[in-house]
Amino acid sequence: MATILLTGATGYIASHTWLALQSAGYSVVGVDDFSNSSPEVLNRIQELGGQRPVFAQADVNDGAALDAVFAAHRIDAVVHFAACKAVGESAAEPLKYYANNLGGLVSVCQAMQRHGVKTFVFSSSATVYGEPQFLPYTEDHPLAAMNVYGRTKLYGEQVLRDLEAADPTWNIAWLRYFNPVGAHESGRMGEDPRGVPNNLMPYVQQVAVGRREFLSVYGGDYDTPDGTGVRDYLHVMDLAEGHVAAVRYLLNEKKSVTVNLGTGVGVSVLDLVKAFERAAGKPIAYKIVDRRPGDLPAYYADATLAKALLGWSAKRDIDQMCADSWRWQSGNPNGY
Ligand code: WQD
Repeated sequence: MATILLTGATGYIASHTWLALQSAGYSVVGVDDFSNSSPEVLNRIQELGGQRPVFAQADVNDGAALDAVFAAHRIDAVVHFAACKAVGESAAEPLKYYANNLGGLVSVCQAMQRHGVKTFVFSSSATVYGEPQFLPYTEDHPLAAMNVYGRTKLYGEQVLRDLEAADPTWNIAWLRYFNPVGAHESGRMGEDPRGVPNNLMPYVQQVAVGRREFLSVYGGDYDTPDGTGVRDYLHVMDLAEGHVAAVRYLLNEKKSVTVNLGTGVGVSVLDLVKAFERAAGKPIAYKIVDRRPGDLPAYYADATLAKALLGWSAKRDIDQMCADSWRWQSGNPNGY
């Protein structure tokens, strides 16, 4: 049974991936510094996964702490989630983002090198594509990040391409996420951002549960069907299963791969609000306000390569994303 190390393990996407990996028969070792997640997640992983989580609290920039984890466990592959992800914050604090997102990536890969582990899954993002020259984005769309956060992902991808060029025995999966939303079907795990949510779905969730008065819809005059921004929302459990497929591919095929993880379906802000109202059985108050600087009008994935190479495609639609989000938020009104 292969053992997979997850960094950022108690974060939103990693915690759901933890359960999916265990369900697929993998052993998991988690590492997190709790800088942007709650230790309560470990209790939920035990409750839902039926086994005591194997976990170490550590900062991915702490090489000695990583060495201790590699010394204590026979690690077959690493899935690297640990990173800061707030676009607005990244503009205000670039050094924090380069130190954590790029420095942390290099630190994890150096620890892997010291311990002879060369199978690596990188949490990348559709944000590396920048202004769409065509849609849907295919994996060969030109790369041009538009913000500091996006540049940390773009440069992180390049660090790994240089590493693979220098040592082709590395097997690496570059996974470009579209917009992860939703929650585990049990309602016991989900997205729980600290402070005011930057992203749409967690904000809508908090309006629905009464923590926020109304949703500000950033722009109603885009060149889209209803004038509001269009994105490719992806259920977090589909995304988690995409990571399982990528780990399986790397360990079995011993080749590298770069794929989009999205549904291929564009959904507008107002589409999502209406779907959430159906799921929650209540209206979501909103006001259409000015556009948010830096936002793109519309983007969505061409997801055919992940299907062809990994045998993966998204199974859950926007109604299930909203139903699962509501079950999580209504059962955990203040998060973890
Ligand atoms: C979605 C749509 C907004 C909030 C970013 C990163 C991406 C990934 C996901 C990390 C847009 C609108 C939002 C609100 C709104 N991050 N919106 N009111 O900007 O597509 O992607 O987060 O992996 O890399 O770029 O996601 O959820 O912020 O916005 O109207 O309060 O919702 O304008 O059209 P985004 P988002």
